[in-house]
Amino acid sequence: MNPIINPFAPGAGNRPPSLAGRSDILKNAEIAIKRIQQGKAERCPFIVGLRGVGKTVLLVEIQRMAENSGCQTVMVEAQESSNIARLLVPALRKILLSFDKSKEFKDKTKKALGVLKSFLSGLKIGIGELEISINEPAEIGVADSGLLETDLADLFVAVGEAAQEAKSSATIIIDELQYLPEIELGALIMAVHKVSQKQLPIMLIGAGLPQLLGNTGKAKSYAERLFIFPQATALSEEDSRIALQEPAMNEQVAFTEEALAEIYKQTKGYPYFLQEWGFQSWNIAENSPIDINDVYEANRMAITNLDESFFRVRFDRLTPREQDYLRALAELGDKPQRSGDIAGILGISTEGAAPLRAGLIAKGMIYSPRHGDTAFTVPLFDEFMKRIMPELRR
Ligand SMILES: Nc1ncnc2c1ncn2[C@@H]1O[C@H](COP(=O)(O)OP(=O)(O)OP(=O)(O)O)[C@@H](O)[C@H]1O
Ligand SMILES: [Mg+2]
Repeated sequence: MNPIINPFAPGAGNRPPSLAGRSDILKNAEIAIKRIQQGKAERCPFIVGLRGVGKTVLLVEIQRMAENSGCQTVMVEAQESSNIARLLVPALRKILLSFDKSKEFKDKTKKALGVLKSFLSGLKIGIGELEISINEPAEIGVADSGLLETDLADLFVAVGEAAQEAKSSATIIIDELQYLPEIELGALIMAVHKVSQKQLPIMLIGAGLPQLLGNTGKAKSYAERLFIFPQATALSEEDSRIALQEPAMNEQVAFTEEALAEIYKQTKGYPYFLQEWGFQSWNIAENSPIDINDVYEANRMAITNLDESFFRVRFDRLTPREQDYLRALAELGDKPQRSGDIAGILGISTEGAAPLRAGLIAKGMIYSPRHGDTAFTVPLFDEFMKRIMPELRR
């Protein structure tokens, strides 16, 4: 069928043609945004889920919702080597500048820009390094102690007060939150704690891999009272059908029942894979309806494609020993496995395997669903590991 009008959208953060199965997460986020805008107490969402389930897509959608309800928003993405100050300062500056387009800042906005400057000086970061300029003088004595935890809280309060004075609100959205070191995540949680105590109209919304849940609790035990952790999981069979059928129907194209069942069987309802299979099946089919034979052919194409990109880029970032560890995990199956069993396959002790395991968690490849258990963060990675390394290296 005509590839030019192919509606499917495999890729990182690409808005899917039908955002299936996520109405509860979106509805709750909208309620949270509107309540915080009104100065009411509310827990903000930190969306957790495996790779490719649609976390970034949800954040983009939430950002759009927040903007529609009159919030000033910024969205940033943490990386393995990120530094929270460098990530947030340009973002917060942008929010502050947006409070008054006429450039005649109100007092609290001027003050908050000064606090932003002193925050950087406390952490010994030059403004020039961030390639930004702040004309207001630094607010000496506020947010410049050099202690991230208190300084970030001062900064959030200053931005929250500026938002309140401007009769506006601010939503800060951070993707890949699992990459923040514990001390930075702790400071962020503390900052949210401070602004929520003061009922200021500023909120933090985030997303990350499943380890974010444990990281947050470890960083601050009271985090569960400030955030909710909606789980973005694989879609149900019903929602998977909607994700495929709806976009096709809009182009007067259908899938046969058998074709839909086969795609669900192959993808297990994981959003990224649904897009990939939808995309390939569409291009392969000669005409509507897309049938089971088209999907059989799409299976080959989609797997080749994933092996060369989605899976491959992650595999290439690993050391040979890390690859061995994941191969051993794959050997045991697609469910969470006891860390001792994985080490056993590698012929080493659990303690001996601990640094390898910790490195893989830091790289976002695995997580620990329960104490002592280990699972892949990338769906279907076990099958890929067996394809790329047919034999265990011993
Ligand atoms: N609810 C959904 N229904 C159908 N497709 C979806 C849905 N959510 C996301 N997708 C598709 O899944 C793919 C992955 O989405 P996204 O990049 O947001 O995932 P992610 O969880 O952020 O992944 P990663 O952890 O790798 O960053 C995209 O192609 C997107 O179009
Ligand atoms: Mg993402």
